[in-house]
Amino acid sequence: MKDLHGRTIDYMRISITDRCNLRCKYCMPDDIAPIPHEKILRYEEILHVCRLAGELGIRKFKVTGGEPLVRKDCIKFLKYLKGLPTTDQVTLTTNGTLLSEYLPALKDIGLDGINISLDTLNEATFERMTGRPEFSRVMESIIACQASGIRTKINSVLLKGYNKNDFFDLVHLAEIYQVDVRFIEIMPIGYGRQYKGLSRQELLPMLLKKYPDYVPVLEHRGNGPATYIYLPGFKGCIGFIDAIHGKFCSTCNRVRLTADGLLKLCLYYQNGINLKHLLRSGCPDDIIRTALEQTIFRKPTEHQFHLAALEGPAEQRKMSQIGG
Ligand code: GTP
Ligand code: 5AD
Ligand code: SF4
Repeated sequence: MKDLHGRTIDYMRISITDRCNLRCKYCMPDDIAPIPHEKILRYEEILHVCRLAGELGIRKFKVTGGEPLVRKDCIKFLKYLKGLPTTDQVTLTTNGTLLSEYLPALKDIGLDGINISLDTLNEATFERMTGRPEFSRVMESIIACQASGIRTKINSVLLKGYNKNDFFDLVHLAEIYQVDVRFIEIMPIGYGRQYKGLSRQELLPMLLKKYPDYVPVLEHRGNGPATYIYLPGFKGCIGFIDAIHGKFCSTCNRVRLTADGLLKLCLYYQNGINLKHLLRSGCPDDIIRTALEQTIFRKPTEHQFHLAALEGPAEQRKMSQIGG
């Protein structure tokens, strides 16, 4: 479907849980009280929303968390989602700690892609940044995932004072493995406000000095806002997701469903509609579908993160409660 600004909205990010088994500094450094189970949408309720959204043309789904693989029966849910008649694509964004054991099942159900978060190749830095000694499990998952033939991307957030010097090691992964490596500029949401990140503007010149023969990639790779370059001899591409310095809102294609059932229209804004309330009050499908359509139509024009830095965020949720 199209929104008020003529953007095609065909993609929904679904956060199936706010829980996570890592404690990343910029996302969930301490234990946050989890949403009580009864307030979390049941899988049937999420699929109900996805079926109605599919009828409106939203046919690509990204499943996120917290960490999606910590929720029981995640694989079964992915299989049902993939099996909806209107679904075109289902992809997963994960921290990779539990991925190896589920990989054969994910391959079986025909998952269309997996994005794995990894901010460093140094075991000690990994533990310092994530609070857990899980580096080798994540690395094993990345190697197994790309070898399985499932399209694999790595998401890295670089922070000044933490892992800036890991940049070239992370880039190197795309040289030796069939993976795209993307550098995400930190956004001032939740704990992310406390850190200084690095944007494409700072990283690209460093890269070009070392690899002067780069080629900009013009075609789309995936459904997200990343822009890519190709380095000769590499197996994968290098991407940048530059939400602040490279605002991409004019081509935004997405809405979000939080684990507690809010249809969130933009990462930056707190508001949306409470679908859980509609679903649990027995609202007929045609009313829910109309509510979805009318709300999505009025999706905000763009984020105002530059104001968040000055005035505090419009969104009070933490990133782990939104799903990225
Ligand atoms: P694919 O490349 O198709 O897998 O999609 P993607 O890049 O959107 O997926 P992923 O879940 O890996 O998202 C990476 C990160 O990009 C997210 O965690 C966010 O930090 C950022 N991002 C994704 N979508 C948006 C968006 O609509 N707005 C902003 N500001 N950032 C986004
Ligand atoms: N800004 C940008 N990216 C973030 N992520 C988590 N918090 C932030 C933030 N404040 C990233 C994680 C993961 C993805 C789902 O979101 O590193 O790769
Ligand atoms: Fe879309 Fe909002 Fe992200 Fe901009 S900030 S790209 S409008 S979700």
